[in-house]
Amino acid sequence: MPGSEDAPRIIAVCGKGGVGKTSVSAGIVRTLVNRGAGKVLAIDADPAVGLAAALRVKVSATVDDIRNRLIDRLRSGEREDRKDLISHLDYEVFGALSEQSGLAFLAIGRPETDGCYCQVNEILKDIIGSIAGNFDFVVIDGEAGIEQVNRRVMEKVTHLILVSDPSAKGLAVAKTIMDVSKRAVAYERAGLVLNRVRGNSELDRLAAPAGLEIIGWVPEDDAIREADISGKCILDIPDCPALTAIEKSLLSFGVIV
Ligand SMILES: Nc1ncnc2c1ncn2[C@@H]1O[C@H](COP(=O)(O)OP(=O)(O)OP(=O)(O)O)[C@@H](O)[C@H]1O
Ligand SMILES: [Mg+2]
Repeated sequence: MPGSEDAPRIIAVCGKGGVGKTSVSAGIVRTLVNRGAGKVLAIDADPAVGLAAALRVKVSATVDDIRNRLIDRLRSGEREDRKDLISHLDYEVFGALSEQSGLAFLAIGRPETDGCYCQVNEILKDIIGSIAGNFDFVVIDGEAGIEQVNRRVMEKVTHLILVSDPSAKGLAVAKTIMDVSKRAVAYERAGLVLNRVRGNSELDRLAAPAGLEIIGWVPEDDAIREADISGKCILDIPDCPALTAIEKSLLSFGVIV
């Protein structure tokens, strides 16, 4: 079990498109599962469900599918009181949760639209929150960019991980997300993981944007690319430098001890 506290460690992974959020999220899940760190819930918050592919999980329904089906029913005039609504949604979200070999998985699909069917959205948030409470670690692979943080999809996290490749654009997006998160996200710790770094000399040329602590760097590693190309599950590939670096970052960031 992680430390002594009961609340789960909620790790959200954000950054510019294509910088390696899903690869890092999958590496985090793998580290936690392999170390037997506790019960792990992986949440794919990217509508493109990249984490499902990286972990080879079959998604039968997303939270968005459930929301849309319910909204259609409500629109067609069906009446449901709040209690029925809660138990109905509870049942469906639990049904969408897939569990295999010590790892549970939930796909969000499209994030909620603000202001529309607030009651449904609020109930769904509560349900996801209470599901998360049953786990020791929750790993959220976020959608690219700033929108989810802005819409407060990731309102409460313990560890906010910003991922960037060595590009100036990737670092600028990480900085913007950090700035927005300061007002939109209740996080305990935030840090930057530099991904796809080609050795120490490249690392020496990189500087973290002001106010962002570098918690680790992950080398460019063909094993990660290869797993993606051949559609292998990140949990099944042999150890490699990138995965070792992700584990090291989690240690230095205090996610695991
Ligand atoms: N450390 C690494 N070494 C080599 N290739 C990597 C590494 N990290 C990621 N990649 C490759 O980079 C590509 C993008 O990675 P990934 O899908 O993880 O990014 P992402 O930020 O989740 O993208 P998106 O914004 O589209 O969701 C993939 O082909 C992946 O295999
Ligand atoms: Mg992704």
